[in-house]
Amino acid sequence: MSAIFQPYTLKGVTLRNRIAVPPMCQYSAINGYTSDWHQAHYASIARGGAGLVIVEATAVSPEGRITPGCTGLWEDGQVQGMAAVAKAIKTAGAVPGIQIGHAGRKASANRPWQGDDHIPSEHADGWDTIAPSAVAFGGGLPKVPHAMTFDDIQRVTADFVCAAKRALDAGFEWLELHFAHGYLAQSFFSREANQRTDEYGGDAAGRGRFLLETLRAVREVWPENLPLTARFGVIEFDGRDEETLAESIELVRQFKAAGLDMLNVSMGFSTQNANVPWASGFMVPYAAQVAQQTEIPVATSWCIDDPLLANQAIADGSIDLVMIGRAHLADPHYPLQIALALGEEKPAAVLPEQYAYWLSRYRGPGTGSAQ
Ligand SMILES: Cc1cc2nc3c(=O)[nH]c(=O)nc-3n(C[C@H](O)[C@H](O)[C@H](O)COP(=O)(O)O)c2cc1C
Repeated sequence: MSAIFQPYTLKGVTLRNRIAVPPMCQYSAINGYTSDWHQAHYASIARGGAGLVIVEATAVSPEGRITPGCTGLWEDGQVQGMAAVAKAIKTAGAVPGIQIGHAGRKASANRPWQGDDHIPSEHADGWDTIAPSAVAFGGGLPKVPHAMTFDDIQRVTADFVCAAKRALDAGFEWLELHFAHGYLAQSFFSREANQRTDEYGGDAAGRGRFLLETLRAVREVWPENLPLTARFGVIEFDGRDEETLAESIELVRQFKAAGLDMLNVSMGFSTQNANVPWASGFMVPYAAQVAQQTEIPVATSWCIDDPLLANQAIADGSIDLVMIGRAHLADPHYPLQIALALGEEKPAAVLPEQYAYWLSRYRGPGTGSAQ
């Protein structure tokens, strides 16, 4: 069996293989409540055979939503819908995971297909944003956020803790803290976004403080036997990459000491001045570097769009899990395509038995297959 189809155990949780579906916002929630779309979408993706399905960035407070259509776990009523989503993922044989986060200065935006730009606060669907400093992201996100007070910082950390408890109540078995992509936590770590002069700014230790404190607070309530992970942008591709990577790796060492079980290695997206070297699997070497220098298990994503490359990244020990996003939107049964490409003996066996039995005999449309 190819490396990518070997089971993987982290803490008390075993994934049926090394394929994970990373969080992907569906922008289809109403006041943070999941809709029928979420039920259907996550069930379908989980039936495709991935070992882990991580539910989209779910806001810890209303102002932490990226768009008005983002899911939330800021109130108890939101647990029931999420519990149904977690159950649907589990019924299909995947481990249900969820990402919780706060969008910071990138919040109050239109859905991507409606412009991806800020909704003015005066508009019924818009709201004021908060961030470490009153520095706008710019471009289509020009809104100047309110610089957070000490009390704001403590409140958001407490919101993460409450959302983590609700995620547990909903039945999720894998928690990912969203510390990436220019949202609130990543912007605390960003030299550009964080201009604070108190203990939450300044040097890398100060800029990492909010992340570390939030992680520690969540670890207190998230069970020891369940994986607690984070997605963190270790590099901005802004020309200061060596320095950022070194600071990030030091912070990840502290995350590990604070009880982090895995890092989903990503990019910062905190600046408009990034020059991202898009290519197949381009984040894999950075993830491998983080793993080597911190000895923490790692996952990564971004254009790992070739089954051989995906399997190789696992086989050579570069990463522990491969996160495959858009290919799952294109084909929810994408793990079957990986199995076929890798020449697995029983490729259809990656699917649930309700499908596997038939597809092991079926040759495909147009083949005149008898069964
Ligand atoms: C529709 C869509 C929504 C996304 N939403 C999130 C999200 O909620 N949280 C997150 O960390 N990344 C999000 N991402 C990034 C994906 O998790 C993933 O990193 C990205 O799609 C690259 O992987 P891929 O090349 O396999 O698609 C999103 C991507 C897409 C396409």
